[in-house]
Amino acid sequence: MSNRMWGGRFDAGPSAIMEEINASIAFDQRLYAQDIAGSKAHCAMLADQEIISREDADKIVTGLNTILSEIENGTFQFSRALEDIHMNVEARLFDLIGPAAGRLHTARSRNDQIATDFRLYIRDAIDRADEALRDLQKALAEKALENAHAVMPGFTHLQSAQPVTFGHHLLAYVEMIDRDRGRFQDARKRLNVSPLGSAALAGTSFPIDRHATAKVLGFDYPSRNSLDAVSDRDFVLETLSAAAILAVHLTRFAEEIVIWSSAQFGFITMTDAFSTGSSIMPQKRNPDAAELVRAKAGRIVGALTALLIVMKGLPLAYSKDMQEDKEPAFDALDSLELVIAAMTGMVEDLEPNRKRLEDAASAGYATATDLADWLVRVLGLPFRDAHHVTGRIVAEAERRSLRLDEMPLDALKAIDERITEDVFSVLGVHDSVQSRTSFGGTAPENVKRAAKDWLARLNAKDAGGT
Ligand code: ARG
Repeated sequence: MSNRMWGGRFDAGPSAIMEEINASIAFDQRLYAQDIAGSKAHCAMLADQEIISREDADKIVTGLNTILSEIENGTFQFSRALEDIHMNVEARLFDLIGPAAGRLHTARSRNDQIATDFRLYIRDAIDRADEALRDLQKALAEKALENAHAVMPGFTHLQSAQPVTFGHHLLAYVEMIDRDRGRFQDARKRLNVSPLGSAALAGTSFPIDRHATAKVLGFDYPSRNSLDAVSDRDFVLETLSAAAILAVHLTRFAEEIVIWSSAQFGFITMTDAFSTGSSIMPQKRNPDAAELVRAKAGRIVGALTALLIVMKGLPLAYSKDMQEDKEPAFDALDSLELVIAAMTGMVEDLEPNRKRLEDAASAGYATATDLADWLVRVLGLPFRDAHHVTGRIVAEAERRSLRLDEMPLDALKAIDERITEDVFSVLGVHDSVQSRTSFGGTAPENVKRAAKDWLARLNAKDAGGT
């Protein structure tokens, strides 16, 4: 049998393979709420504009409400032969209310319908992500406040570089995530435009009110160009780019959790809630959640790449290629939600091993820069000479297997006789972090203030995209 919705000029139904490649209902059924909301807005507007009768409009809305509850309570029968969510809903509407159902599609097309549905869906996904990201920022800022004074090694090249505080390290992620939230908000602004009423591609001859439907659906205004409105998917691309950058940020922290929780580093401990055991090696506690956060970035970045390639070279306006926008986006946004929640859970769960962190900060000559700075500040050496003298002191300390703050004064004097007892005031790791009071530096007082600031802003809900 040919398709009831568009089969007027067809004699026969599609081959099984055609039906399989063409149908999107298996995945676009999750747009049901947006699809029904769009239809209700469209229907009310058609009646207000006297394009359809009030009586038909009432029947349509009642029917759509019934369909919504049928889908929600799981009794709705989705059919692949009906291709997609739009036609599944409309066919059921026909079963429920008869020929009046046929009036709903006046002055619209599935092209503006799907563009509307998907914008609404992505908008909700952005709003959910934003909430979840704020929770993650809060978890990080709280842990940062508790650990504003906890000294740890700061790394460059994963080599011990200079001491920082654990809180400072966590706040670095709060900043990154705030920029991520900003990117989502930017995408949301541009996304929030209504395609509804652009019809197939050219607009319509019916006297519709696009401003009215835009308003009811929470859009800022109707799109200005009907061709653009039905053929653009850059709102998905932008959202996926923001998602990809965020996912990559989270992989960096996930990687640090993997490294830090290893027996060799021992910087943090995770409880059983976020670790797994090994079926063969009883001593193990594996950071699987962090590893999966790290890995899921693959899907998210992959979704962005997939959609960029789907869209590349597509002539205006709608092409069926664009149906391939949904699965990657759904998968990426689902993964993202899970990844953010897992990250928040891990941040709340992890405990820094302060003693171990401090020992690690003291090893590796992490205060060598402080020593060089002291030589410049107190002895007036040019920084390059100070660097050289410090290098010789580090070599001597290495030879003696001593930390810098354990070196005897005469050993230091043997390298540069001008060095005095006062140098020991900068060689400890706590002295080092305390001295880093420059704006944005790691001094514990700075970190404490920054963490408190963040918490106040996050609780006031005004942060996000600083
Ligand atoms: N299922 C389609 C999609 O997701 C809806 C639009 C179909 N439009 C059309 N002209 N066949 O893209």
